[in-house]
Amino acid sequence: MQPPVLELVDLKKNIKNKEIIRGINLTLGPAEILGFLGPNGAGKTTTIRMIVGLIRPTAGSVKICGYSIADDFIRAMSNVGCIIESPEMYKFLSGMENLRQLSNMDKRITRQRVDEVVELVGLQKRIEDKVSTYSLGMRQRLGIAQALLCRPKLLILDEPVNGLDPAGITEFRNLIRRLAHEEEMAIFVSSHLLSEAQLMCDQVAIIRQGSIVKTATVKDILNTETVEWRLDNPVKAARLLKEKWGIEALRENGNTITAAVGENRLELINQVFVNEGIELRYSIPRQNTLEDMFLDLTEGDEIA
Ligand SMILES: Nc1ncnc2c1ncn2[C@@H]1O[C@H](COP(=O)(O)OP(=O)(O)O)[C@@H](O)[C@H]1O
Ligand SMILES: [Mg+2]
Repeated sequence: MQPPVLELVDLKKNIKNKEIIRGINLTLGPAEILGFLGPNGAGKTTTIRMIVGLIRPTAGSVKICGYSIADDFIRAMSNVGCIIESPEMYKFLSGMENLRQLSNMDKRITRQRVDEVVELVGLQKRIEDKVSTYSLGMRQRLGIAQALLCRPKLLILDEPVNGLDPAGITEFRNLIRRLAHEEEMAIFVSSHLLSEAQLMCDQVAIIRQGSIVKTATVKDILNTETVEWRLDNPVKAARLLKEKWGIEALRENGNTITAAVGENRLELINQVFVNEGIELRYSIPRQNTLEDMFLDLTEGDEIA
């Protein structure tokens, strides 16, 4: 069996006696897009720096395509394309000259591959222009083209949509999805922009204060409908939900409660409430979003 493209086992990092990363476990397979989400300071960049060997883990392991970065660094890293913070490039050269510069340093990269990555990121029209004339979005795409030259099986991007305008973000999202589908690339993308991750990723892992607090497929998140009720006796309503349907109320706030009802029919639940003498003002079903889940999980943290 093929090993996963990326496997993190109990990864930890202490910096100056402080536990920054507290035991992260993750696997990622070919053509999968994982959103690594968390508020600023949660530990996203620190995790990525360990994955690509820029800093050494305090404990645990990183394997890329089955190769441990501790024991087999070169082979592990030959499968990775990565951009941390902003991509490195020469602004006084054209996009094409930048790509040639890199391809000249690596025999595996053919001229054909250079043209291929230019097309993949959609820079054909402007590739002969100087990078200094590029928009931020175009620079981002050139950075990705650079990362793609040696056909990585894993692409790692740290907060790639920071600073892009809405059109740039849409373009970027389409590019990422195309790379996963057409090149079967596994993509690990960190972000604190949750609404964006929902559109771009297949799965998300939410990191908070150095620990993963939730992993889920985006499909599952969107399939959980929650209902908000406003009624005169929320304590009793919560008890009924628990007793009759095994439903845990998520939040109680004054006279409102919120719960994920799953397959249960809302009319039936409301009927029981009324029969039990609860005065019901309203009930609103709404689709869960990643944003809701994230807020539930990280309540009280600073969110940028
Ligand atoms: N070299 C360092 N020295 C001290 N603290 C650090 C260092 N690198 C990161 N940290 C701390 O680790 C935490 C996680 O940082 P980081 O991984 O950059 O978070 P994120 O990328 O999710 O915003 C933060 O509290 C940060 O201050
Ligand atoms: Mg960061």
